[in-house]
Amino acid sequence: MDSEPSDAGAERHLPLGVLDRQLLFVTGKGGVGKTTVASALALLGVEAGKRTLICDLDGTDEIPSHFSSLRQLSFAIHEVLPGLWGMSMDTEAALREYVRIFLHFPFSGRLGPLAKAFDFVASAAPGVREILTVGKVCWEAKEGGWDLIVVDASASGHVVSQLGAPEAINNLVKVGMVREQTRWMLDVLSDSSRTGAVVVTTPEEMPVQESISLVSRIRNETAVDLVAVVANRVLPELFSKGEEAVFDSLCAGSGADSLAQHAGGRIDPMLAAARLAIGLRRRGAVHLEHLRDELANSVPLVYLPWSHRDPESLEETRDLAAALAAELG
Ligand SMILES: Nc1ncnc2c1ncn2[C@@H]1O[C@H](COP(=O)(O)OP(=O)(O)OP(=O)(O)O)[C@@H](O)[C@H]1O
Ligand SMILES: [Mg+2]
Repeated sequence: MDSEPSDAGAERHLPLGVLDRQLLFVTGKGGVGKTTVASALALLGVEAGKRTLICDLDGTDEIPSHFSSLRQLSFAIHEVLPGLWGMSMDTEAALREYVRIFLHFPFSGRLGPLAKAFDFVASAAPGVREILTVGKVCWEAKEGGWDLIVVDASASGHVVSQLGAPEAINNLVKVGMVREQTRWMLDVLSDSSRTGAVVVTTPEEMPVQESISLVSRIRNETAVDLVAVVANRVLPELFSKGEEAVFDSLCAGSGADSLAQHAGGRIDPMLAAARLAIGLRRRGAVHLEHLRDELANSVPLVYLPWSHRDPESLEETRDLAAALAAELG
């Protein structure tokens, strides 16, 4: 029989944790909880003492509420909480910054005609807008001095073109400045010790199907490493086996009537609600099983519980972050 593994070199064999990466793109189908999970991950970073940036890629402006902050995010980075900074993407501002940094061309005010020309080029050449967006994030990873950047990224289809844009352009343009500009982005994106994607889903048929296809597209069409799949809004088990037997006999027999007398009103709506929750959880479990089978242990699958409180507050983000930390181990 094999002996116990020796301590020597044990550290080398530890898998890289999600939060060991510097740059995390959180994506998934619309409405599954990308912003909620991105906020919880960012808070975990802050709690671990990391200088953390959270970036809203689609400008939906829903991040501040997860930190009970009233101030909107903008392209100019500002501190949301001690240790946590935030920004939202603005392609025109990213273009202005790009031209200033890389072409050494100072701008004052709006871009005006150049922005119009850019719009024209961006519509004609797919990938230009995506390069600016993902380029700004990669630039912050490379030069911003951040320990952790959590990107609340675009939904399924679009994120693949964003993450894949540097590679697509790199393959298209063989020489010159454009190639140099995409090379360093690719270096950041393809470094699996530094960058990763987190796919969020929910225990429902369509989100699970979409997440399975997103997982394979991230793997096949981008250079970014998939580091975790988060199943969000997972209903907890309502009853233990023994409790379920009591519940069943309550539903079947006359127990509900005597209980109603004690309670001073009908309790069958409560029983129906509990039955509904049990049914939803069972159906969810089937979808999660399917997801687990498809992933086949190729990436950690972690569960985040359905929260009965308003998830858009700092307090709830703390609770979800703790639940996520427990799952991530
Ligand atoms: N674990 C949870 N428990 C309960 N409600 C949740 C949970 N996670 C998210 N929600 C709620 O689900 C809704 C969608 O969440 P969220 O905004 O994070 O999704 P999203 O994927 O970012 O959506 P969008 O695609 O519109 O950006 C919100 O109302 C949020 O408060
Ligand atoms: Mg969102």
